[in-house]
Amino acid sequence: MTHIHLPQSISRRTVLSGLVGSAALTLLPLPSLAATPNVREFSLKAQPAKASILPDKYGKTPVFSYNGQIPGQTLRVTQGDTVRIHFENKLDEPTTVHWHGLRIPIGMDGVPDISQKPVAPGESFTYEFRVPDAGTYWYHPHVNTSEQMAKGLSGVFIIDEKEPYKVDREETWVLDDWRFNQDATIRNDFGRGMDVSHGGRTGNVITVNGKLPGTFPVRAGERIRIRLANVANAKIFILRFEHHKPHVIALDGHPVEPHLPKDNQLIIAPGQRVDVVLDCSGKPGDTFSVIDDLYQGEVYRMIDGVYSDATPVRAKAQGPVVALPDNPLSPLDMGSAVRHEITIDGGAMGSMQGAEFKGTYYPIGELVKYGRVWALNGVAAHTTAMAPILTAKLGSTNVITVRNDTGFPHPMHLHGHAFRILKTNGVDKPHQPWVDTVLMEPRGTAEIAFVADNPGDWLFHCHILEHVIGGMLSVIRVA
Ligand code: C2O
Ligand code: CU
Repeated sequence: MTHIHLPQSISRRTVLSGLVGSAALTLLPLPSLAATPNVREFSLKAQPAKASILPDKYGKTPVFSYNGQIPGQTLRVTQGDTVRIHFENKLDEPTTVHWHGLRIPIGMDGVPDISQKPVAPGESFTYEFRVPDAGTYWYHPHVNTSEQMAKGLSGVFIIDEKEPYKVDREETWVLDDWRFNQDATIRNDFGRGMDVSHGGRTGNVITVNGKLPGTFPVRAGERIRIRLANVANAKIFILRFEHHKPHVIALDGHPVEPHLPKDNQLIIAPGQRVDVVLDCSGKPGDTFSVIDDLYQGEVYRMIDGVYSDATPVRAKAQGPVVALPDNPLSPLDMGSAVRHEITIDGGAMGSMQGAEFKGTYYPIGELVKYGRVWALNGVAAHTTAMAPILTAKLGSTNVITVRNDTGFPHPMHLHGHAFRILKTNGVDKPHQPWVDTVLMEPRGTAEIAFVADNPGDWLFHCHILEHVIGGMLSVIRVA
């Protein structure tokens, strides 16, 4: 990857030289020069690659990658930077890049038929936008998404705070779930009907940063910021740190009042990110596990934390975990809020009688023949270029009550905005966090609010990618 950082001094010199001999010279205030955004350039290629995911004896896995890596190259810039990404499609099928969670213009959002034409094999596209928010974000394709992501296409996009947040060190854990054959190839049963109508494509191998999870070396007394991102197609991670109390400081990139997660469980659904601060409160030589609490009492010891024998980094415990600085989100104006409802229906063992598909109502028996088993407000999607499920006036505050009338959980994701979770299941949500993805419990409800401050047709869809195939996608128009 080329990675060119244009120092501010260059842009400043260019501006100043343009003014030599000009009477305007004294009129140009220096502070405006300091505000000139940095331009950060990257080149990103979607390309086939062979990755060592399983131990050597199994052989390498043919994957789809960004820049030959699993997970894709981490892109890292500072809040307020302008990012220019020279994207090239070296796959033999069309693709796009979607910048999940970034509040950027619709033309850069990577949604086919809304933002851009899919990038054909061999073609390129330049993405350019300014990043308004700090935090942990990610990127992935938005064409044939279930298959392209199951083959490995995704990467993390970190946007640093302008003032560094103080910790001893940082870690990023990209959590993924793969469906492998015995010979280390990826099973090619993409979009299988059973996965579409049930819980999505869950796999048989978990990876952290593209490798089987292993040990996590720490030192007593350390304070570590861990950025967790779930890039799996369908698996929900429920992580627990034995003997430790990680504080959640951000959800989906956005700061939240530092708090301990309920029941000491970090629930991270597909698409979601959680930033935690981990104080290594153990003693030299201690060990602990990071456990994935599967369902029905089953547990999986995922990562082994291992304390070195080194003397503690500091003599006494750290002070309290402090909050990150807020991102510049438009405040809600609840007094004038416009209310909407979105109901999720369908799925195996569901009660959906039928739904509209391509403009025609079909009873469920017919709908299944088209591979559509989910609907939002009675409509099963067939394309991203849908008639909007609702229209929000530019600048207005909107509250959506989302009802999950199905027997499955759904992480519902909105493009181009952050929204605030006001309530879940009728009860005030603790901390009322700003997020881009809300995990709906089976038969649960969520009340979410956002300011429609980014014009465009924005997708609102489930991030279980097989549910999208089954029709669980809609468009919210901001105009
Ligand atoms: Cu991360 Cu439309 O998705
Ligand atoms: Cu879903």
